[in-house]
Amino acid sequence: STDGSEAAKRRAAEAATKEVVDGMVVGLGTGSTTAYAIRELGRAVDAGLDVRGIPTSYQSRSLAREVGIPLTTLDDATPDVAIDGADQFAAGDLVKGGGAAHAREKVVDASADRLLVVADESKRAARLDHPVPVEVLPDAAPTVEAAVRDLGGDPTLRVATRKDGPVVTDNGNVVLDCAFGAVDSPTDLAGGLSAVPGCVEHGLFVGLADAVYVGGADEEVTVER
Ligand code: A5P
Repeated sequence: STDGSEAAKRRAAEAATKEVVDGMVVGLGTGSTTAYAIRELGRAVDAGLDVRGIPTSYQSRSLAREVGIPLTTLDDATPDVAIDGADQFAAGDLVKGGGAAHAREKVVDASADRLLVVADESKRAARLDHPVPVEVLPDAAPTVEAAVRDLGGDPTLRVATRKDGPVVTDNGNVVLDCAFGAVDSPTDLAGGLSAVPGCVEHGLFVGLADAVYVGGADEEVTVER
């Protein structure tokens, strides 16, 4: 990313973090934009804010610990709010999973009373056309690939850059990046993917976002609700 988009991501994340108030349980999303929110929340905790976080990945858990956010789990608490990034958004629907964290993100985000999405302007689309990450049980990769093709998609096994072989998720699964072109009905595609045996979770987040905080190049943050 350019410095400009880093600044835009940071402003969006810091604006969304202002919605967190004393006593809240906060779902902590994954990725570079959410990382700005986690750091801002850490500063607020230093200044006396009483919150607990529920992380969505190894990455967000370790960053939250680093910046001193007390953590809890879904066993003990329900998030009042979740703050999470997106790889693309259109009309409030999202594609997530660029960091392979979308399965736990979806569980935490969906359990939250409100989901605040944080993104820079480059993530906006008229229709979702970003490849949809699908987390898959390793043994099921061949059958899920066939099912994705039946749904009109073109699946590619995500491979690691610093390891030979596939990316393995925090949950021990693999990821298929599935290109569908522009998605006419995110609801229908989400239902189709969810019905595939061996699909642990896909990265379409339909109807989950309550607000999208969008950082623009002009130092403005737009909130779409
Ligand atoms: C993690 O798997 C994703 O769902 C992230 O939320 C998404 O990739 C956004 O990341 P950035 O904020 O780094 O673009």
